[in-house]
Amino acid sequence: MWTRQSLNDLVREKLANYLFVVVSNREPYIHTFSDGEIVTQVPASGLTTALDPVMQACGGTWIASGRGDADREVVDKDSKVSVPSDKPRYSLKRVWISREQEDGYYYGFSNDALWPLCHIAYTRPTFRESDWETYKTVNEIFARGVLEEVGDKKAFVFIQDYHLTLLSSFIKAKNPGIITAQFWHIPWPNREAFRICPWQEEILNGLLGNDLLGFHIRYHCNNFLDTVDRAIEAKVDWERYEVTQAGSKTAVRPFPISIDFEEVSQEAQQDEVAAEMARLKSQLNLDDKLVGVGFDRMDYTKGIPDRFRAVGRFFEKYPEYRGRVVFIQAGVLSRTQLAAYKKLNEEINSLVEEVNKKHGDGHWQPIIYPREHQSQLTLMALRRLANFFVVSALHDGMNLVAKEFIASRFDEDGVLILSPFTGASRELTEALLVNPYATDHFADAIQSALEMPEEERQRRMRKMRAVVRENNIYKWASDIISELVKFEFGV
Ligand code: F6P
Repeated sequence: MWTRQSLNDLVREKLANYLFVVVSNREPYIHTFSDGEIVTQVPASGLTTALDPVMQACGGTWIASGRGDADREVVDKDSKVSVPSDKPRYSLKRVWISREQEDGYYYGFSNDALWPLCHIAYTRPTFRESDWETYKTVNEIFARGVLEEVGDKKAFVFIQDYHLTLLSSFIKAKNPGIITAQFWHIPWPNREAFRICPWQEEILNGLLGNDLLGFHIRYHCNNFLDTVDRAIEAKVDWERYEVTQAGSKTAVRPFPISIDFEEVSQEAQQDEVAAEMARLKSQLNLDDKLVGVGFDRMDYTKGIPDRFRAVGRFFEKYPEYRGRVVFIQAGVLSRTQLAAYKKLNEEINSLVEEVNKKHGDGHWQPIIYPREHQSQLTLMALRRLANFFVVSALHDGMNLVAKEFIASRFDEDGVLILSPFTGASRELTEALLVNPYATDHFADAIQSALEMPEEERQRRMRKMRAVVRENNIYKWASDIISELVKFEFGV
């Protein structure tokens, strides 16, 4: 079983003389002003949830874009600050990009082009030349940050996600000795879908600057290799899962990302969580109710309208549950300046209203959707309260929210309803897998979850807990480091 300590031992043994650098767009800690005081926020991001425990185990430097209004106040002359502030374990180095650059690089090319391109959720990508130009400029800014941090040391740079597809090539052009790996946190679609990107060649060539490229599942590796095979001049070795281009090699491997299972499971058992559950029960009048829960970053890939349609259909098909079941949706607004997200939020608001109007009465509302920010404690209490928990993504690389639900249920109860279009569904096969587009099936799955005998719920939950316990985030990081070491040094 991999632990924080065994990961730390591996890094000390294999990467002893190397500086360990993680690079991502999103920073793990954001400093903001609140009533004149500087406060630290933790973003709602699967990437930072997964990588922060890894960095806490390995130490080193995390380079990310500083966006908080107090971010500049807390850093030193090299734009660095030690984090977490209560128990510093690694350095966070911020790179600075302007508001205009953020518009073109983050909202524009990353999230209005690459995000819809890679997620098959039927939202059309928008390719703007100016966004692409800004995206390249910002990748260069990150490269300068990395090169400055590394200097003449030996370094292993671990790049995250689709915001930084050109980074490894930019770094290696200046310092070919740096070892780079990149992890792609979202799906890689089939080549037919990807080829509409006007800059597919530049992106593929950029990614092939890496020594190792990781995806959540083998299917995404296959899609990537197939895209490379058809789109650019490179030799794809399907047996070894390697690409050779101009003499340099990139290994392509699946590494299913995860969470710190033990940490989440321990947190779930704290007294404050039980107190918060009691508070929620009385505030939301849940004592005699069966509870469904969902929480998501509000994104059109998460299938939230589909979920509410299924809840509505459930009350139509199974009216005996009216007044007895509530569905609580917690959400974090995201990327709200993009039109597709504005439209999504409007659709969600009107669906909640529609379902509640049609099925609710003066004493009972089927869907509770509090719009305000929920604390980590409240989210944990909601996971624990759930008779059933819904993850209905239309397409998702992994979905760590599903794994966090499993880790929270030390009582071995609660049913997970999970979309088969998530990476998580490959491991969590004891969930009730349901296609979110199939509203009637989805409604039936809610009924099955509510009627599942306790013994079956426990059997399924036990199996899923064993899977997440074993395939934890330390295993993910150790597998990547071990693969890299094997590949790079022939050990
Ligand atoms: O899962 C893809 C991803 O970009 C992650 O990298 C991140 O956790 C999440 O989406 C949130 O995105 P953002 O950083 O844009 O808020």
